Amino acid sequence: MMKRTHYCGDLRAKNIGESVSLTGWVWHWRDHGGVIFIDIRDRSGHSQLVFDPQENSDNHKQANELRSEFCIGITGKVRRRPEGTENPNMPTGEVEIVVDHLMIFSEAETPPFPIDEHVEVGEDVRLKYRYLDLRRPGLRNAILFRSRAAQLVRNYFSNHGFIEVETPVLSKSTPEGARDFLVPSRISPGDFFALPQSPQIYKQLCMIAGLDRYFQIVKCFRDEDQRKDRQPEFTQIDVEMSFITPEDIYSTMEGLIKTLWKELLDVEIEIPFPRLPYWDAMERYGIDRPDARFEMELRDIGDIGAESDFKVFRSIVEKGGKISGICVKGGAAFSRKEIDDLTSEAAIFGAKGLAWMKVTDKGLESNIVKFFAEGLQQKLLERFNAEAGDLLLFVADEKEIVYAALAHLRVHIAERQNLFDPNDNKFLWVVDFPMFEKDDEGNPTPLHHPFTSPCTEDLDLLESDPLKIRSLAYDMVLNGIEIGGGSIRIHRRDVQSRVFKTLGIDEQKAQEKFGFLLDAFRYGAPPHGGIAFGFDRLIMLMLREPNIREVIAFPKNQRAQAVLESAPSRVDEEQLRELGLRLRL
Ligand code: AMO
Ligand code: AMP
Repeated sequence: MMKRTHYCGDLRAKNIGESVSLTGWVWHWRDHGGVIFIDIRDRSGHSQLVFDPQENSDNHKQANELRSEFCIGITGKVRRRPEGTENPNMPTGEVEIVVDHLMIFSEAETPPFPIDEHVEVGEDVRLKYRYLDLRRPGLRNAILFRSRAAQLVRNYFSNHGFIEVETPVLSKSTPEGARDFLVPSRISPGDFFALPQSPQIYKQLCMIAGLDRYFQIVKCFRDEDQRKDRQPEFTQIDVEMSFITPEDIYSTMEGLIKTLWKELLDVEIEIPFPRLPYWDAMERYGIDRPDARFEMELRDIGDIGAESDFKVFRSIVEKGGKISGICVKGGAAFSRKEIDDLTSEAAIFGAKGLAWMKVTDKGLESNIVKFFAEGLQQKLLERFNAEAGDLLLFVADEKEIVYAALAHLRVHIAERQNLFDPNDNKFLWVVDFPMFEKDDEGNPTPLHHPFTSPCTEDLDLLESDPLKIRSLAYDMVLNGIEIGGGSIRIHRRDVQSRVFKTLGIDEQKAQEKFGFLLDAFRYGAPPHGGIAFGFDRLIMLMLREPNIREVIAFPKNQRAQAVLESAPSRVDEEQLRELGLRLRL
């Protein structure tokens, strides 16, 4: 076996004169007047090989037979490239290797797409031939970056007294609110394991076990609709600590972020991050994961709408609805068509209309300005600090629709107007989440998960007014994306039972689903809390990739399928019989 002395991307001027061995793949192939130049590539980069018929005719003949992606090994001498042929764009661009000996380990058929960054390839083809896609520098570098990040995460937590505990994958349904992936049991026919949506209960059990500080880089499984920042199986950096307050979680995780950005991107992140109570986030941004790289904040104008003569606004206020708006700097230049397009964007989120007013030197102008008395117009201008040239946009509706529509418009317009530096990093914590929200039937359902501790001061409202209770939950948000979430947990059986009762989970059901946790609470549970980061999302954001699949070696496609290995797929009748299953399709 030919053993390499260097990786292909490592040779520099200091290696000139050395004999080296390289192994890798044939990348670019050029014939310049009889002299053949080949780039040999491995995971580290590439180097230029020279086959000169005048120096070694046997080698030259062999080089003529090389084709893209042949796997080869060479030995040769490093020399300085002739003047004028250096390539400052590649790290090895000062040198080339005159080959003495060439070995072909294996030949390659023409790949289905060139191993080249700059060629657009359909995603399903990329996924089917992922091992070739991974040879392309972009994806390869993302995976190398991810590996270094995982290493830093492990070191960080180990250095801070955390221990790594592996938790089961064949387990019981966990409560993160998505649909479970199920695995049928052969030994107990008719019974199923659920793949964990997170190790939530296990990490709490680790705290009850006295392990004190736990972390894990762990696969989680959620059967939910795909989005560009979601995968059915994804990886969390999962953390749990005993005898702590939220401050301990904030500082631990801020420290991790600081380390990752410094070590991997050489960017200084300022800590601590700002903290934004949930309702402030909703009022100012319409969403609990605000993109704070730009302003254009929402302002409530319910009071002004109520005093106006505009029927739509008045009736919404009378029905207990909400009116808010945003001020688009320079937006007065928008055409009618552009405003109509914005109206359609708002409609996606349920808005029944989009009221607008242009700010001119002479004051406000639009089809509805006549319904606003002079004083009210003045108030509107002041509320938004609006100046001539701006555009005010309003949505009046139920609170949820107003928030959702304006949150979307805010980001949509900012993207169109390039209102932010895409390289900016605006981290923040959203805190003081409500414990519950209303589900479709109006019943309370947990905003995080049912093990989240209510704020102690709000505990008395648990039975009387549960929707008012704040929880000790927190999310970390970067540029409008939630990268992590967690909470201080309930550690007392009586409080946990009351929360289950509020959620309409009776004693028997609670015992059936989470009995193993409730039982553990009988034996001295420490106060504890934790958080989980989406590791794939974090890498995606660090690399400024628009899609989570660009940072995962073997991701599922948009239809949650594994294209390369064709999964999911049918199984043999015999396997079904063993499991006691029959297909009902
Ligand atoms: P949560 O459900 O908020 O919390 O998940 C934590 C983080 O995981 C990431 N994430 C995902 N990433 C990719 N694809 C998905 N389908 C996906 N779903 C979630 C997000 C999210 O912020 N057990 C709790 C944590 C805790 O309370 O400690 C939990 O799983 O970045
Ligand atoms: P109309 O009186 O229905 O013609 O509406 C006048 C303006 O108000 C139009 O620009 C509509 O888009 C807008 N509008 C209607 N309903 C709403 C609403 N619920 N919120 C905000 N604007 C609305």
